[in-house]
Amino acid sequence: MTADQLAGVPVLLEDVADRWRQLRAAGPMSYEESRGLWQVLDHEAVSSVLADPATYSSDLGSLAPTQEDFETFTQGNFVGMDPPEHRRLRALVSQAFTPRVVQGLAPRIEAICARLLDAVADHDRFDLVDALAYPLPIIVIAELLGVPADEHRLFQEWASILFSGDQLGETADMADLERALEAIAPTIREMNDYVLEHIRRRRAHPGDDLTSRLIAAEVDGVHLEDQQIVGFVALLLVAGHVTTTALLGNAVVTFDRNPGADATLRSDPDLLPRAIEEVLRWLPPFPELGRRVTRPVVLGGQELAADSMLMVHLGTANRDPARFDAPDVLDVTRRRNPHLTFGHGIHFCFGAPLARLEAQIALRMLQERFTSLTVPSYEDVTYQNPAVIIGVRRLPVDVVR
Ligand code: HEM
Repeated sequence: MTADQLAGVPVLLEDVADRWRQLRAAGPMSYEESRGLWQVLDHEAVSSVLADPATYSSDLGSLAPTQEDFETFTQGNFVGMDPPEHRRLRALVSQAFTPRVVQGLAPRIEAICARLLDAVADHDRFDLVDALAYPLPIIVIAELLGVPADEHRLFQEWASILFSGDQLGETADMADLERALEAIAPTIREMNDYVLEHIRRRRAHPGDDLTSRLIAAEVDGVHLEDQQIVGFVALLLVAGHVTTTALLGNAVVTFDRNPGADATLRSDPDLLPRAIEEVLRWLPPFPELGRRVTRPVVLGGQELAADSMLMVHLGTANRDPARFDAPDVLDVTRRRNPHLTFGHGIHFCFGAPLARLEAQIALRMLQERFTSLTVPSYEDVTYQNPAVIIGVRRLPVDVVR
């Protein structure tokens, strides 16, 4: 398709980005009536919130919906914790999930990508999400945990139910969240029981997998409790799956919509890591992070009372002209790219090295296997709920070998 033919085809990801541009024009802060919260919009204000966990807590506490099953399930889920508990848990799981462990996964990720793409070797058209972007991160997480191959399917099912965003409305408000938790409670129970049993098996027969390393991890004589390991596994699934799926789909859509970028990359494949950073800046999969104000404070010229709710907006911060040259231009050769897509400060994404590695391997393999990869019609593309995740759900592509 030429750029002219593309004009007029609605592409949700671009509509969303246009909305972010308008939002940012409102200034560093904007009050959102419907959710009763402040949106933090520019790079400086977003960075300062994320760098100050004492003033801006990740523990949304009583402001978050409650659900009994969910509470036990989230015990090791340190993304919603503040220091010192956050530091202790992150230090424990960091022992098990080291950069060496991640780098050592490269051959396995290559083998998984190759197997997934072999399965569509006879097709000139296939759904990139079904074929690659959806299964890849989940198989990687399941293998990492030492889950037997014939049980990977369970992880795929849980992930799709736990974080589809299907139960959430467009605003993802509190009533939506309550309903969503109610709907996923049976899945939470099933997964909780499965992972506890998996931990028992690994404790009896330790292997060279993340679960065994989590069981063995120790800081100052303290080990992780089983329920904390379950919570961490859930965190890996929720934080590490849908986001990586979104990144892969967003990269394919972005290169398709910007044929110049695709041509640049094909002529210089070494640019791929930089191009991935640019896609991350352009379309952050998790565009908003919640924080609770712990004390009266002035932020972006606004006085905030204790217990105010904030949504820090990574999508608008990533297009802030004060931090990026030509922020509304997609530039796969961009050198200075301080995007906030993986967050910032103590909660900086724990899985960023793994997400980058998976994206590099998968996108390089797509480039090597296909001389051309295009989206034939955006009318057949469907999207995740943009209130939760910026990404595609179905992405039919045409390939030429
Ligand atoms: C934290 C984004 C992939 C595991 C975060 C945060 C963001 C993020 C924005 C910070 C949350 C906050 O400050 O409240 C992403 C994106 C990804 C990705 C965009 C893919 C493109 C992964 C992967 C894993 C992972 C592959 C693991 C396998 C985590 C964990 C945390 C986290 C455990 C919590 C860190 C903490 O609280 O200290 N991620 N993530 N993420 N991410 Fe990722």
